[in-house]
Amino acid sequence: MEPRSPRAAVPPLWIRFGFGLLAAVLLDGTRADSGFGPLDGAPPSRIAIVGAGIGGTATAHFLRQHFGPEVRIDVFERRAVGGQLATVTVNHQDYESGGSIIHSLNLHMQDFVKQLGLKYRKSVAAKTAVFNGKEFILEETDWYLLDLFRLWWRYGISFIRLQMWVEEIMEKFMRIYKYQAHGYAFSSVEELLQSLGGSGFLNMTRRSLSESLLELGVSQRFIDEVIVPIMRVNYGQNISIPAFVGAVSLAGAQSNLWAVEGGNKLVCSGLLKLAKANLIRAQVNTISLQTTGESQQYELSYSTQTENVSETYDIVVIATPLQQSVDAGISFRGFEPRLPEMPGFYHQTVASIVHGYLNCSYFGFSDPKLFPFTSVLTTDAPELFFNSVASACPVNITAGFRRKQPQEAGVYKVFSPKPLEKNQLKTLFKSYYSVQETDWQAYPHYSSTQDLPAVVLHHSLYYLNGIEWAGSAMEMSSVAAKNIALLAYHRWTRQLEMIDQKDLMIKIKTEL
Ligand SMILES: Cc1cc2nc3c(=O)[nH]c(=O)nc-3n(C[C@H](O)[C@H](O)[C@H](O)COP(=O)(O)OP(=O)(O)OC[C@H]3O[C@@H](n4cnc5c(N)ncnc54)[C@H](O)[C@@H]3O)c2cc1C
Ligand SMILES: *[C@@H]1O[C@H](CO)[C@@H](O)[C@H](O)[C@H]1NC(C)=O
Ligand SMILES: *[C@@H]1O[C@H](CO)[C@@H](O)[C@H](O)[C@H]1NC(C)=O
Ligand SMILES: *[C@@H]1O[C@H](CO)[C@@H](O)[C@H](O)[C@H]1NC(C)=O
Ligand SMILES: *[C@@H]1O[C@H](CO)[C@@H](O)[C@H](O)[C@H]1NC(C)=O
Ligand SMILES: *[C@@H]1O[C@H](CO)[C@@H](O)[C@H](O)[C@H]1NC(C)=O
Repeated sequence: MEPRSPRAAVPPLWIRFGFGLLAAVLLDGTRADSGFGPLDGAPPSRIAIVGAGIGGTATAHFLRQHFGPEVRIDVFERRAVGGQLATVTVNHQDYESGGSIIHSLNLHMQDFVKQLGLKYRKSVAAKTAVFNGKEFILEETDWYLLDLFRLWWRYGISFIRLQMWVEEIMEKFMRIYKYQAHGYAFSSVEELLQSLGGSGFLNMTRRSLSESLLELGVSQRFIDEVIVPIMRVNYGQNISIPAFVGAVSLAGAQSNLWAVEGGNKLVCSGLLKLAKANLIRAQVNTISLQTTGESQQYELSYSTQTENVSETYDIVVIATPLQQSVDAGISFRGFEPRLPEMPGFYHQTVASIVHGYLNCSYFGFSDPKLFPFTSVLTTDAPELFFNSVASACPVNITAGFRRKQPQEAGVYKVFSPKPLEKNQLKTLFKSYYSVQETDWQAYPHYSSTQDLPAVVLHHSLYYLNGIEWAGSAMEMSSVAAKNIALLAYHRWTRQLEMIDQKDLMIKIKTEL
């Protein structure tokens, strides 16, 4: 397994799961009629989406479903379709360098794969351990019951308490699929969270994971040896991150993890085609508000390799982070009051795909033949310069595929907070043929004091990536995409009763 699927000495209840929530505040609450379509009921003629990652491409797909075949949907992408779903090539094989693991309860992602006729990539047996800089403190064995027993022995009741807590959160989160299937939308991430899990969910975005876990009675030792390594591999951060995103990344079930055969990014290119969207390879530079009489539109100025162009749209969805650290390079003109700057910054995580020989001595195994692990997670030890290292599987797994043994040259994925220096590479690897680095602004640098960004930036200008501040995963972006498509549609067609409805669990029961 790759580092994204840490399977510690237990049924891995922790893999990051994508949930979605979206939040926004209507910035222009002063205008009663703002954001809604024309009174004559005319459909929008042009919609723009900035960004062709999973968020943008899923939005294109859902917008097409709701607005029908007539509307023109332009998707702008300055780099590669897929965004953070990307691969690098080693020895004629491709490996995921960004988002790699999908959970079996990620229902939108599953649905995309089904609709696009893509295949699930086979999973290959893996064995995970936790390293503290000196020795392994937790090891997965082949025998599930033994693992459970050991965990019980070492951490007592902590493990069960945690499992129950995570399951309860998951169950509530899964309500989103019902709400969305019934067409309900939310105008903010807060509304969405509130609707799924009441004030309890909102509170979880405002307090730290460590606080929640200690309150739950989870032991400090369990936190240090199990929870911290999972947060490090999933978000490159510690247990000061909010409880909600922490729970998101702890959710999971026994090896019910998958990926897309051929690469997860195939979902993005597939969705663009399915949506019959126009892909425009360009950098969007400015979004300007244009007011003519009653109607408001947005002018996008963008540069392709050969020209600078401006075009006007009825609805615009921004599907890339607007925080300065990500440098989307978009400026807003003509908005009064001005759109606020997005606070906070994104967390740097470097994915290095290394082809070489793992230095098993570094992990205390002088004979590499005896090194039993495929994935190494780490605790928060000052001497550790990496978050995880794991043997990587190619995106195409053929029938005869087997992992390389530690004494053979293999392909490894290392996550680290900074690019690996030569001496660090020489510590982790005995020798290597190649190193390919991808330096990601990967996910929010979380803090529990931060407000969730808005979804509705202006009448018909929507922002998808605020969801990441509740939790960042492919499925979160997909949930946000569905929500924005529903929200834009209901606002355009003035079906306000479909937005921010209370007591949806009860409503949906009586609708059936
Ligand atoms: C190393 C790593 C590992 C991860 N592992 C997992 C995992 O195992 N499971 C999981 O579910 N999630 C994982 N994630 C998170 C997941 O990949 C992201 O949450 C998701 O891909 C974000 O998609 P997005 O469409 O919202 O944004 P992005 O993928 O960032 O897409 C935004 C796109 O917008 C484009 N763009 C930006 N500005 C402009 C502009 N001005 N004009 C035109 N185009 C522009 C960018 O080029 C980019 O392609 C991981 C992320 C990283 C970095
Ligand atoms: C969330 O926090 C608020 C304010 O601190 C509190 O009133 C409310 O009871 C909390 N909700 C839950 C479910 O704990
Ligand atoms: C977590 O990391 C932050 C810096 O990102 C630091 O300020 C904080 O003290 C750390 N918390 C713990 C519990 O280590
Ligand atoms: C990898 O898998 C994809 C999807 O099934 C397929 O289209 C592609 O041809 C495969 N590539 C190789 C090299 O086998
Ligand atoms: C587009 O405009 C920018 C700034 O005005 C300019 O620097 C750039 O050369 C232009 N590009 C093309 C292809 O015309
Ligand atoms: C491997 O790890 C050992 C033990 O930490 C270290 O002494 C050695 O320099 C490392 N590198 C190589 C290439 O063996």
